[in-house]
Amino acid sequence: MTNSFEVKIIETKPFEGQKPGTSGLRKRVTEVMKENYLGNFVQSIFNVLPEDKLKGSTIVVGGDGRYYNKEAIQLIFQIAAANGVGKILVGKNGLLSTPAISAIVRARSALGAIILTASHNPGGPKGDFGIKYNMSNGGPAPESITNAIYKQTTSITQIKSATNVHVNDLGTLSTHQWNDGKFIVEVIDSADDYVSLLKTIFDFDGIRNFVKNHPSFTFNFDAMSGVTGAYGKRIFTDELGIPESSLINCIPSEDFNGGHPDPNLTYAPLLVKKMNNGEFDMGCASDGDGDRNMVLGKRFFINPSDSVAVIASNYKAIPYFNKGGLKGLARSMPTSAALERVATQLNVPFFEVPTGWKFFGNLMDAGTLSICGEESFGTGSDHIREKDGIWAIICWLQILTHHNQSTNDDKGFVSIEEIVKQHWSKYGRNYYSRYDYEEIDTAPAEAMMKHVSQQIDSKELVGKKFTGISDHITYEVASCDDFEYKDPIDHSVSSHQGLRIIFTDGSRIIYRLSGTGSTGATVRVYFDKYETQPSQLNNDVQTHLKSLIHIALVEISKLNHYTGRNEPSVIT
Ligand code: G6P
Ligand code: ZN
Repeated sequence: MTNSFEVKIIETKPFEGQKPGTSGLRKRVTEVMKENYLGNFVQSIFNVLPEDKLKGSTIVVGGDGRYYNKEAIQLIFQIAAANGVGKILVGKNGLLSTPAISAIVRARSALGAIILTASHNPGGPKGDFGIKYNMSNGGPAPESITNAIYKQTTSITQIKSATNVHVNDLGTLSTHQWNDGKFIVEVIDSADDYVSLLKTIFDFDGIRNFVKNHPSFTFNFDAMSGVTGAYGKRIFTDELGIPESSLINCIPSEDFNGGHPDPNLTYAPLLVKKMNNGEFDMGCASDGDGDRNMVLGKRFFINPSDSVAVIASNYKAIPYFNKGGLKGLARSMPTSAALERVATQLNVPFFEVPTGWKFFGNLMDAGTLSICGEESFGTGSDHIREKDGIWAIICWLQILTHHNQSTNDDKGFVSIEEIVKQHWSKYGRNYYSRYDYEEIDTAPAEAMMKHVSQQIDSKELVGKKFTGISDHITYEVASCDDFEYKDPIDHSVSSHQGLRIIFTDGSRIIYRLSGTGSTGATVRVYFDKYETQPSQLNNDVQTHLKSLIHIALVEISKLNHYTGRNEPSVIT
């Protein structure tokens, strides 16, 4: 078929507020649907990419399937063709998880990717839309690029668009050409490249045998009506032999079936309830675009900080790490310190970075980081440059497989809870919790942060002693700061990344303002207390942290006084 297109110029004017945040541009669909709004942003991306690289390049396009993605994809085809892109690889039905896109960019040496997702934010006509650009390493564009894109959006006057470029059927694997093959759209399988990569990391046969030899092992995966629905059956059932009936909410929906596709204790209540009732041995979920994960054991919550620590300490169970070794481990600053106990014992380099996945990418590209994680349900490794929900879930299946090499149903099997408890008895336990105070007015939230930062700046906190209201322990402040990160690879400096108070026993209190909220300010307070006493390893988290929480909320920050809030909106 000989399709052809011509380039037409659309005159336009800038829209305010097109500054990409931590994970791209996220806006209400209603705003994005305004004429030229999205076109302006997409053209601004292409304006920033060097013309010689753009010419004939391959760009990957796909997203989490939320409302307005389909229209956005056609628009991207038109603007990409007019700007000299040679080939677009688009996921079947426009669906590609964020980790799969990262894998495809790397596998196919693409110039980059345009990812259509607002991650775990609700979707639908009244929900959010999101768009972000990833680089040729498969990772999110650094700030220098996102700032340049933003700058373009503030002065844009023209959008270049190709006439006659439209792919009616994105549901069939197919190739479409225009202008004698100068522009090609290839509809690719959403899972193929990603599954091939996972097979080089894990021992799929081993996991399959574990599942087969333990018919009583029950598993539940909740795709939360997000994009991983398109991967669930292929990976868990076809590849790993887990019954399809164990997979729920696996039909990607434009509004996530009215839900909030964020795998945590608040937004995945049904899964949490089933796990608390003891219905399954392993429960797991991932978010709208498939980069976050939550893994649960029977009547047992694994906080994400422990999850990455257990994965790292069991690295030999995972062929990819067993073969290549651990180059280094890293966590974001507010994530519990559990991971560095592992790094210390294994004697591997350890990095503490600010919140945000992009900080891990440089370390990975420099070959100094293998496994990393964040408290916000993000876990991943250097196999790609995004966090990876399904990867984390398979890590746990692989670890279960490893710990159960010599068990079968007659003997029972080593459970997730036992694996985590073994970890605590070897490394000690970091009791950890995060309190979120959402939708606070910006002024009081900032006043509270200022009250804490003044105590840090004046150094009055160092050496100060607090007596725990419930454990009667003396907590003495060893150090405190406003966290600043110097990237060891590109030497860039990121300041004001959270207020950090560290006590002489290693306990930590951290205060941060969220970088992802959409209305007002969200204050996050993180509590981390380390225990090694065998008699103290199995306590209730909130009870165990009561004194530290009181010191943080009442004695140091006066949170209630500043914000008027008595209770957090979310406790993790
Ligand atoms: C996104 C990023 C994560 C980051 C999180 C922090 O999900 O991808 O890397 O941890 O935002 O959100 P916050 O609201 O705490 O700034
Ligand atoms: Zn996400």
